[in-house]
Amino acid sequence: MSQKKHTVRTLQKMRDEGQTITMLTAYDYPTAKQINDAGIDMILVGDSCAMVVHGHPNTLNATMDMMVLHCRAVSRGCDRTMVVADMPFGSFQYGIEETMRNAARFITESKVDAVKFEATHNHIEKTKAIVDMGIAVVGHVGLHPQAIGVLGGMTVQGKSVETARKVVSEALALQDAGAFAIIFEAVPAKLSAYVTNKLNIPTISIGGGPGCSGQLLVTPDVLGMFDAFTPSFAKRYTNFNEQMKQTFAQYAEDVTSGAFPGKEHSYEMSDDVMAAIEKEFG
Ligand code: KIV
Repeated sequence: MSQKKHTVRTLQKMRDEGQTITMLTAYDYPTAKQINDAGIDMILVGDSCAMVVHGHPNTLNATMDMMVLHCRAVSRGCDRTMVVADMPFGSFQYGIEETMRNAARFITESKVDAVKFEATHNHIEKTKAIVDMGIAVVGHVGLHPQAIGVLGGMTVQGKSVETARKVVSEALALQDAGAFAIIFEAVPAKLSAYVTNKLNIPTISIGGGPGCSGQLLVTPDVLGMFDAFTPSFAKRYTNFNEQMKQTFAQYAEDVTSGAFPGKEHSYEMSDDVMAAIEKEFG
C-alpha cells in the first residue's frame, strides 16, 4: 500500500485501471485516523454530520462553522486518505463569490483536499469558478438530501425518464465543468453503470449500485451507531451502539461496586508526606 496521499491523479489512475475506489464518511480525528490507517482511499466529511453527530432530523442544520471544525479534525487524522469537505445548505446557493469564499475556507482553515456540493444545473458556473480557483471539486447527483423540502423525502432518483435525464445531464455537465469525481446517491444501478461508462472521471456510489468506480457509506451506518434513519442501501458491519451500551453499563457496575478504580489506576504517595499533611490539617 502506498503511503503517499491520494490526489485527483491517483484516483483517476485507479478508475482507469479498474481498481475500485473506497470511501467512507468521518467527522472526527480518531475515526478519520482509523479509516486512513485501514487504507480507505477517500473520506467525505458529509453534512450528514448534522444528523449522525449532532442529532438533527436532517442535513439542513449543518452550518459552515460546524463543517469547518469537523473537517479540520478529520484532516489531522489523514496522511494518506483524500479528505473531501461537504458544503452545507446555504453555503453555495447564493452568489458565485460567496460560494468561492466558502470553498476556500475549507482549504485554508480545514486543510481538506477537495470540496463537494449538491450541484444541480443551476450550479455549473459555481463549479467552474471553484475549479478555476484551483480547488478540486466532487459533484453529487441523484438524491440531494438538502432538497428534502421539494423532494418530499429521501427517495431514489432516476426511475422516470425525466429524473433519469436529470441524473445523466447533470453528471455530464459537472464533468465538463471540471469536477474530478461524481457521487451517485440513491440512483438505480443500471442508470449509474450507464453514466459511469459515458464519463471519463470516477463515479462513487452511495446507493448507486456496483457499476460505479467506487463505493461510499456513512460510517455510523457501517458501525451500527445511528438508528434514527437507515437507508436500504446501507450495510451494517457491526453494532457499536450495543457494544457502547454494554461497556458503559459495565463501567457503572464497576464504579458502584468499587471494582474501579483499582490500585493500578491510582497514584501512590509516601506515608511520610501523608502523615505531615494529617498533622498539619488534622
Ligand atoms: O453528507 C453525506 O454524508 C453525503 C453522502 C450521503 C453523499 O452527502
